[in-house]
Amino acid sequence: MKEFVLHCGKIVTPQEVFEGYVVVKDGKIAAIEKKSLYEGELETIDLEGKYLFPGLIDVHVHFRTPGMTQKEDWTTGSKAALAGGVTTVLDMPNTNPPTTDQASLDLKRSLVQKEALVNYGFFAGATKTNLEALKAMKDIAGIKVYMGSSTGNLLVDDLKTLEALMKDSGKILAIHAENEQCIQSGIHAHEGETDPAVHSKIRAPECAEQAVRAALDFVEKYKARVHFCHVSTRGELDLVRKFKREHSAHVNQLISVEVTPHHLFLSEKDYVAQGNVVKVNPPLRSEDDVKALWEGIADGTVNIIATDHAPHLMEEKQLPYPQAPSGVPGVQTMLPLLLNAVHSNQLTVQKIAELCSYNPAQRFGMRGKGSIAVGNDADFAVIDLKLHEKVCHHFLWTKADWSPFHGRTLKGWPVMTFVAGELMYEWREKFGKTFGRPVEFLS
Ligand code: DOR
Ligand code: ZN
Ligand code: ZN
Repeated sequence: MKEFVLHCGKIVTPQEVFEGYVVVKDGKIAAIEKKSLYEGELETIDLEGKYLFPGLIDVHVHFRTPGMTQKEDWTTGSKAALAGGVTTVLDMPNTNPPTTDQASLDLKRSLVQKEALVNYGFFAGATKTNLEALKAMKDIAGIKVYMGSSTGNLLVDDLKTLEALMKDSGKILAIHAENEQCIQSGIHAHEGETDPAVHSKIRAPECAEQAVRAALDFVEKYKARVHFCHVSTRGELDLVRKFKREHSAHVNQLISVEVTPHHLFLSEKDYVAQGNVVKVNPPLRSEDDVKALWEGIADGTVNIIATDHAPHLMEEKQLPYPQAPSGVPGVQTMLPLLLNAVHSNQLTVQKIAELCSYNPAQRFGMRGKGSIAVGNDADFAVIDLKLHEKVCHHFLWTKADWSPFHGRTLKGWPVMTFVAGELMYEWREKFGKTFGRPVEFLS
């Protein structure tokens, strides 16, 4: 029976920041006090001057098991997560084999449980033929629907299948909203062009907007729950706003909107210096779109930030444009980037806790997660908001071993990460060995 006190941290909730003492017992939060009542009685970990965040919940990672473990595995992916203050991840189904039925989910689960150092949950992947198999799957976060093609072979590019999923799946649909026909005509129009910047022209903003529009029509018709992954344009946000104005609060709750750090902190301009390294789906956008994403965060249209951590090896990224895979790693750098943005008044620490922990837990119905509250799991990130450090591949744990943010000096870093009351990461070096657990989904 392990019991200790996190002593005198600045406790961050979506509503407030207050100095307090958190008692942890058996992996859960046993008490939260505003003054120290346990001096000398319990083991203490001094957090003076540091912020205590609920562990971040990244609802969008690609940790590549099974089948693509040359790019990432759950040891390297978990370490990157822990070093980024992330204690729970939801993994995407575009693995090999893809996670499209109970057998492939069981296979993934059996492999992951022997490696994961963070808590985990899984999305199933929709195909044009697996609706019945999806309906029978147990304990999944939701169903990922690729309306446009990306890494792997999962694709639902017809409205009939999308409609059936919306009508009958009963699960949250996490949608990669890019219209496949639109992408194909972009490929055709730009045939032979090899500058990586063409990626943003091929997968133009209207491709994303068309897909969001189609999905929203079905939300209206079938009252389906839809999570829009990696929204990247002003147009998509305007469509969501319009939908919300025209519907009741009850209907509006069916929708959630995610943005990624790479769409918030990079733009099309970054192709010049980084080329295929920043090739990602959906692609990087204009500075006006980036501005719109920040406005969406400010007005609440965006309610989740998640990484879409999609590692690929540098040798793959160095292939010519058409062959270079899409995706960037991000699970280790999301929190430092967001903390750095606190210093430029783009965000508050409370807002980070809301977007990266509270809202994800609420949205996907995760038992005992998302806030520092008595009875919840003792998953925490301890933050030194004054620590200046450069993003550098020496300290990146992803197998990809590179970051599109390499060389940026960021102020504000996680220095300790706890999962279920275990100290699983200490600044730069030390990792714990306790395995993470599957998330319990309430819905
Ligand atoms: O850029 C991307 N990479 N977008 C996706 O949709 C998939 C991801 C990957 O798995 O590599
Ligand atoms: Zn996607
Ligand atoms: Zn993804």
